Amino acid sequence: MSRLVVVSNRVADPRKPAAGGLAVALGESLQQSGGLWFGWSGTIVEDGPTGEGEMHKQQAGKVTLATIDLCREDHDSYYAGYSNDVLWPVFHNRLDLANFDAGFIGGYRRVNQLFARKLMPLLQEDDIIWVHDYHLIPLAAELRAMGCRQRIGFFLHIPLPPQIIMAAIPQHEWLARSLFAYDLIGFQANQDVQHFERYVINEAHGQALGDDMYRAYGQTVRCSAFPIGIDVDQFLALTHAKEAKDMYETMKREYSQRRLLLGIDRLDYSKGIPHRVRAFRELLANYPENRRSATLIQIASPTRESVDAYGDIRRELESLCGAINGDYGELDWMPVRYIHRMVARKRVPGLCRAAAVGLVTPLRDGMNLVAKEYVAAQDPADPGVLVLSRFAGAAEQMKEALLVNPYDVHGTAETVQQALQMPLDERRARHQKLLQRIRDHDVHWWRNTFLDALRQMPNVRD
Ligand code: G6P
Repeated sequence: MSRLVVVSNRVADPRKPAAGGLAVALGESLQQSGGLWFGWSGTIVEDGPTGEGEMHKQQAGKVTLATIDLCREDHDSYYAGYSNDVLWPVFHNRLDLANFDAGFIGGYRRVNQLFARKLMPLLQEDDIIWVHDYHLIPLAAELRAMGCRQRIGFFLHIPLPPQIIMAAIPQHEWLARSLFAYDLIGFQANQDVQHFERYVINEAHGQALGDDMYRAYGQTVRCSAFPIGIDVDQFLALTHAKEAKDMYETMKREYSQRRLLLGIDRLDYSKGIPHRVRAFRELLANYPENRRSATLIQIASPTRESVDAYGDIRRELESLCGAINGDYGELDWMPVRYIHRMVARKRVPGLCRAAAVGLVTPLRDGMNLVAKEYVAAQDPADPGVLVLSRFAGAAEQMKEALLVNPYDVHGTAETVQQALQMPLDERRARHQKLLQRIRDHDVHWWRNTFLDALRQMPNVRD
């Protein structure tokens, strides 16, 4: 069996708990078969030369981690700049937040070239290479230019925007052309595939050949949806472990007279947290029976703080939560508990299980694994209700959640009320179906389906 080489910006020791869906899913995927995981070390070298970086190698069980340091200038233009100040907002439909600074693209290309240059000597002839996410779109093209002939797959963890929004990126054609250097492209949702197809036909003047094959720029690529999942069994084991149980007991004791609503997100503007908090305020205003009896716990872990838009969302949320607590709070009840810290992964299942309502209401999201974790953590005999944004990739699979339009604050408040009032039979029936679905499409299914498809691609570059 060929060796698996995974490449992603974020690399984490798969034996240790990681934050962020990508690192968790890749860690779980790699632990199964072993292989090489290549990416950024997380270290920024203040005065280092651009386009260079020291490599570190480390063995983590069956997985070899090979990571590269980045100098400050490369990091700022590649990661904070082009990846998170251009691609992230545009791919999440936020053209208003994009910063098309012409200086970013140079660093983005340079780091992709650096990764390709450092990865090439590590490759073995029958490796299969799996590249992840928007930081590394041009990596296959760079590797091909250096003579790499192995099969290379790409998985985009975030949404692909509609053609008209994509076209706003000054380098959109270059990005699209770069995608055709891969053999297989995976998206989270069918909607992303549709966006890709429209781009190929209308913008690249290419063709959809059928059977998920597309041709443009003189190349052929296969592209389909491979919705990412969680490791359900491992998550259930976490749910029944001591840390999660202690957390559950603490929450139940602390909120014995109250219903908990829970949001767990990175503090990212795509997650729709202020809209969610406004919906909660509307719930308190329109259904006064929830005052004193419902509490929203919002955990928002700090992320990408060097990018301006992230500072703005933090200030907005702090003032919103302060206002609600000021307007509705009582001496013995605080409506919103806002926590700007990461919560230990081992405690997450306990927190989810204690919550009557899980609020996963991003304005746009590739998949959102918190939705799946919330379902997995529930007690099947008395499960909570998932309120899920129709704009999360997860909504294509999780039809038995209560789907909302997060922009519609009033409608979301109504749906949260419906969730709080849902009879036990209905909660059980919905939960059972959701759990089955996330079991059928877990992280192993995702990995195996993608890699099987990649292995089956004819190696036309032979
Ligand atoms: C999203 C992206 C990942 C990223 C993660 C955490 O899930 O799709 O690529 O790793 O956010 O963000 P960070 O910028 O800290 O890597």
